[in-house]
Amino acid sequence: MNAAEVLEGLSHSEKKVLATLHGLGGRASPDDIFKAGEFQQLVEVMNAASWLQSKGAVDIDESAHKTYCLKDRSLVEKGVPERRALTLISEKEGSLGVKDLEAAMGKEESSMAIGWLMKKKLARLDKSGTEPMLHLSDEGRKYQHEQMLDETLLKKLEVEDLDEGETDKAALDLLRARKGVLQEKLVVSRVLRLNKIGDEIVSMGIELTDEVAQLTPELLQTGKWKGVSFRKYDIRTFAPCQYPAKKHPLTRVADEVRRIFIQMGFTEIDDEYVQPAFWNMDALFTPQDHPARDLQDTFYLKNPSRLPLEDEEVVRRVKAVHENGGDTGSQGWRYAWSREEAERALLRTHTTVNTIKYLAKHPDPPMKVFCISRIFRNESIDMTHLPEFMQIEGFIMEEDASFDMLVSVLKEFYHHMGFDKVRVRPGPFPYTEPSLEVDIYYNGSWMELGGAGVFRPEVTGPLGIKHPVLAWGLGFERLAMLKWNLKDIRELYVTDLDLLRQSPIF
Ligand code: PHE
Repeated sequence: MNAAEVLEGLSHSEKKVLATLHGLGGRASPDDIFKAGEFQQLVEVMNAASWLQSKGAVDIDESAHKTYCLKDRSLVEKGVPERRALTLISEKEGSLGVKDLEAAMGKEESSMAIGWLMKKKLARLDKSGTEPMLHLSDEGRKYQHEQMLDETLLKKLEVEDLDEGETDKAALDLLRARKGVLQEKLVVSRVLRLNKIGDEIVSMGIELTDEVAQLTPELLQTGKWKGVSFRKYDIRTFAPCQYPAKKHPLTRVADEVRRIFIQMGFTEIDDEYVQPAFWNMDALFTPQDHPARDLQDTFYLKNPSRLPLEDEEVVRRVKAVHENGGDTGSQGWRYAWSREEAERALLRTHTTVNTIKYLAKHPDPPMKVFCISRIFRNESIDMTHLPEFMQIEGFIMEEDASFDMLVSVLKEFYHHMGFDKVRVRPGPFPYTEPSLEVDIYYNGSWMELGGAGVFRPEVTGPLGIKHPVLAWGLGFERLAMLKWNLKDIRELYVTDLDLLRQSPIF
């Protein structure tokens, strides 16, 4: 960014800091700027400084140094122990018994005092006589009436904290050698420097007008917004990406589908993934030699390999329908129906299994039900196929439900999803008559999106259903692919978040 662009995005306090810094010769600490620029608070300067730094108008030099303050003031009040010992020895003309010192100062203090007297060579310990004696040295005499280095430093620290540079090194070492007297702090000090861009900005002329950074209800209501000048946002300023939690794109599409059906008065259902072939196929009048029942198309389970059929009456009627049409007026498929085949456990191959099981339990109209759920087919994975995917299933059962009604409900649904060109063609399902396939027009061509139809008497008869049932099963992923214009279905199931974030669906 050049200087003019940076200037454009500067806030009021950033401009003020720049101008003040310039006034101070282009080099100053935040504290100096704070004082010279009459800011309200130091943080205002600090914040502006770091923004100016990131915008490239100033450089900030940082240096760390140590400061010292008194942790324990008792040493200042009582004086260092060797001073008290020195005074006591002086009072006795320069020689004092260790015992007398102990009597005067206490055992602990006196031994500390002796230690320091020795270390500073203020006295000599004489153990030759019957009792150990302390004799003042020349050094000791000198300091009788003179402050010692560490005493001087203590006095200064009593008044203010000191930087390492402001203290005498030897005195500091003496004080540091005493436990609990000093506290050391590491302080970082900063100096702002106007750099090349900063200089250019200053020479362009900084105008300090009041600027509004945030539009408030008050500004709007009073109309004051017309008179104020707004601060420009710099949308190129670096800011870290935030990824708060959100729903998976497919979940969002499912929610949209759900909302549409619920608004049209439908109720949502679901069922188990594992089903006996009976409900997935037989009850839907799909003959036992139908190609869709092959291993190539359907996943059968090893364990459990069979699921017992519960309602004997329904089983009997379904068997009859397959073999000779039962009492539905149909001829049936004319083969010997096998219960064993019907008991085979499988992963449901369509959600129509939910529809038929639900109808078997609730044969009385009216009923409007839908389901958005997962199904499984033995497909190899490629751009347009997955072995597990989702269907949008639904049915309407009511007295005068008609094929026309089916077509208009499907059109209505797609219309709500944002697709207006919808057409239907004859379809191939064993359980509906008439059957249809529904296409929607997208990007210049017709895309097949699902199947539907009116359940045949061979399906409704054995369940005791007396009214027409309009049913459909629509592709869910296909719809999502159209929504995001995807060529590859696998893009919908990317689990790597970094990759997902680059995808149009994110
Ligand atoms: N079950 C069919 C499929 O999986 C769709 C369908 C449902 C067709 C209901 C007719 C009636 O493609």
